Amino acid sequence: MSSTSQCRVCGGTVNEFFDFGRQPLSDAFLEPDVDLDGEFFFRLATGLCADCTMVQLMEEVPRDRMFHEAYPYHSSGSAYMRSHFEGLAKRLLTTELTGDDPFVVEVGCNDGVMLRTLAESGVRHLGVEPSGGVADVAAAKGIRVRKSFFEESTAREIRAADGPADVIYAANTLCHIPYIGSILTGVRALLAPTGVFVFEDPYLGDIVERASFDQIYDEHFFFFTARSVQQMAQRHDLELVDVERLPVHGGEVRYTLAIAGARTPTPAVADLLAEERARGLADRATLDGFGERVLRIRDDLTALLRRLRAEGKRVVGYGATAKSATVTNFCGIGPDLVSTVVDTTPAKQNRLTPGAHIPVVDAAAFADPYPDYALLFAWNHADEIQAKEQGFRAAGGRWIRYVPEVRID
Ligand code: SAH
Ligand code: TYD
Ligand code: ZN
Repeated sequence: MSSTSQCRVCGGTVNEFFDFGRQPLSDAFLEPDVDLDGEFFFRLATGLCADCTMVQLMEEVPRDRMFHEAYPYHSSGSAYMRSHFEGLAKRLLTTELTGDDPFVVEVGCNDGVMLRTLAESGVRHLGVEPSGGVADVAAAKGIRVRKSFFEESTAREIRAADGPADVIYAANTLCHIPYIGSILTGVRALLAPTGVFVFEDPYLGDIVERASFDQIYDEHFFFFTARSVQQMAQRHDLELVDVERLPVHGGEVRYTLAIAGARTPTPAVADLLAEERARGLADRATLDGFGERVLRIRDDLTALLRRLRAEGKRVVGYGATAKSATVTNFCGIGPDLVSTVVDTTPAKQNRLTPGAHIPVVDAAAFADPYPDYALLFAWNHADEIQAKEQGFRAAGGRWIRYVPEVRID
């Protein structure tokens, strides 16, 4: 089945290139015996805009279903990510925030993982975060938080109350927002004349290269490239003036937008655009090739897990990631193949994973006793996790990875 939809950036025709079928909300961990009836499902499929090249989901999930009081993702759960965001905050302090009384707005500040450093430095700031639980955690760190969705009206209210922003920042949030036109109109209205809008999100170039199909789930609506972002910026009197590739979350790009004409783009922009052209990142054939690799991974992974079950091996998942919802539900992996998933997040523990209904247990249970195999759902945190779980390998355990291909190590 193949269909079209209307591009959320330019209104052009989006042609579907891959269908993951019926999928649940990736962060809707279920309370056993309470939540199993009425679980929400939608059709997860990706398409390419024939006009502006933006890759996006074919169907949108209403935002309040995903981002609410009980949203379980806590950004500070990874030590590596804490230092990543601290590094960015420190860099901003010596670059964009050196003027008189600078003002920073973060869209999707979550538990304050980035703003904490700026708040401690006394910088005027505001986090905008609709998910009440994580917003409260940020506020408890002394961060000024507004509990709402950021959109054009929010931006105008902030400008009226606090004045223009020198930096507007969003990490792993802009790609979550289908109504992106409202965001960019709001950014344009809120930004100071020399200000910048900096955002970082999973990069389509890395997703295609690594076949990391699990980056595709309800919350990730857009899959950006320098080309699609550049075109999108132009529609809002903004300009792409810098790009920086980041190693986090399996490969991201940090984009810097300024008001059109205010800054000279760095050579990195032209370099990445040229690389994307050479790789054919906006070509249907490239995306179809990605789809073929995804099907191969699904077949290899299910064959491996079935073989291990036949051999009587115990396999657990490591990291109840949002990404893992796509893996388990697309591949048909349930508790018969992966008995539990371990995770350090209290809000996910003693619940069932969405759709696949695999029990989530405290990461402390991992060693009690160690399983034979651990399927590394949080592969983007592999270094951090494998460093602290050295006892698993020492006890004879083996890790299973599935991107860029299925392998045991
Ligand atoms: N910046 C953090 C959080 C990413 S999770 C990090 O990089 O780890 C995405 C966050 O965006 C969630 O906390 C969600 O509540 C928030 N969000 C979703 N839509 C939003 C919107 N319109 N405005 C502000 N935040 C939003
Ligand atoms: P992450 O890959 O950051 O994001 P997403 O949910 O968007 O796919 O999620 C990492 C998950 O793994 C999170 O639930 C916390 C968990 N985790 C651990 O259990 N142990 C760890 O050492 C780390 C780094 C993460
Ligand atoms: Zn478009």
